[in-house]
Amino acid sequence: MRALVVGSGGREHALTRSLVLADSVDEVLCAPGNPGMAEIAECVAVATDDPAAVAHLADARAVDLVVVGPEQPLVDGMVDAVSARGRLAFGPTADGARLEGSKAYMKEVLVAAGVPTAAHRAFGADDEAAALAFLETLPGFYVVKTDGLAAGKGVVVTESIDEARDAVRAYLSGAAFGDAGRTLVIEEGLAGPELSLLVVCNGDTEGARPLAPAQDFKRIGDGDAGPNTGGMGAYSPVPMVDDALVADVMRDAVVPTLRELERRGIAYRGVLYAGLMLTAAGPKMLEYNVRFGDPECEVVVPRLETDLGELCRASAAGEPLPEIRFTDDACVTVVLASEGYPTSPRTGDPIAGLAEAAAVDGALVFHAGTRREGADIVTAGGRVLTVSGFGPTVAAARACAYAAADRIHFSGRQHRSDIAAGV
Ligand code: AMP
Ligand code: GLY
Repeated sequence: MRALVVGSGGREHALTRSLVLADSVDEVLCAPGNPGMAEIAECVAVATDDPAAVAHLADARAVDLVVVGPEQPLVDGMVDAVSARGRLAFGPTADGARLEGSKAYMKEVLVAAGVPTAAHRAFGADDEAAALAFLETLPGFYVVKTDGLAAGKGVVVTESIDEARDAVRAYLSGAAFGDAGRTLVIEEGLAGPELSLLVVCNGDTEGARPLAPAQDFKRIGDGDAGPNTGGMGAYSPVPMVDDALVADVMRDAVVPTLRELERRGIAYRGVLYAGLMLTAAGPKMLEYNVRFGDPECEVVVPRLETDLGELCRASAAGEPLPEIRFTDDACVTVVLASEGYPTSPRTGDPIAGLAEAAAVDGALVFHAGTRREGADIVTAGGRVLTVSGFGPTVAAARACAYAAADRIHFSGRQHRSDIAAGV
């Protein structure tokens, strides 16, 4: 099988690596890819924001399976465009991807499906007074989210009503995130550990299968300080999450959601990423994403023993999924971010030590935001690299990831030193 991975981040690098290793896959192409992916697969320059261009590429190169990494092309209908030409594409069609494309829609589906979630209301650009009034009704812990996609940065979680009010004004006026924020969702703040459960779906509600649980670290700073990011590190498995809890989440949240989508005429395929908070009152759904999490993918997919090509193919074809197996080894990933991330990341800094890091036994270095400049690899985004480490325990995997990450240097490098600490 010839596979085409769409995207250029750490998630797509991890997917490319596992597809290259899969028996079912003979050749992997990437569009557009990154310098790390270019070391293991052929990268093709194509406008990946254009579903028709990718569908055309898939035809021209006789691709058997397109694996779409990021959310934006899914929301824009890339799976629809590829499927319309009779080729398989892993991921939901645009109607399913709306779960991530609009938080107001996602909340409506959650409520219709009876899935426990935070109390909330959605407001439009003309509803500023009502939105500010709704804040007053919440008990001192406020969450304000853009309705539309904001690259993981459109969420403010705060105990300060003034900060929440400022966010409401900046979002609804379009000043903060343009049209993505002109509709917003306000919800009650919830507390507890978070759980990322990635579920592979094949369009048949009963056929969905969970991958190993992971936990993500969203804030920029140690001890969960500072603003939210796309994710600064992750680990899998999660010792506090046992099979019984996963089964509960599937029964009480994921399956009812898939059933509700089915009722609306949507046969969901690809990854449904359930982002939960394990509150004192039980698990509550914070959000759904419609793709692998990043950096969760960089710890979950490397642990997968099942052939990733066959898993994605079966999902895309709407066939029963192969049995999903994971190694017992744990995996931890540490994100190295550029100076100024998440607000205004600086780019263009040369990166040293990549080969030395990759030489650490059990370590995998995934490129997230890099580009080649002559002989150098330089920073090209907010999250620059995700460095994963394996080990027989989470603590050993953590030591491996940090040993490798410590060998990488670039000016202004930021990372958290407490990923998976004490697990
Ligand atoms: P979302 O994009 O909805 O997942 O939000 C991003 C992150 O914001 C989540 O992973 C949580 O860390 C945090 N968050 C979202 N909703 C809430 C909530 N209701 N209470 C507390 N934290 C939240
Ligand atoms: N790590 C969170 C996300 O992928 O949305």
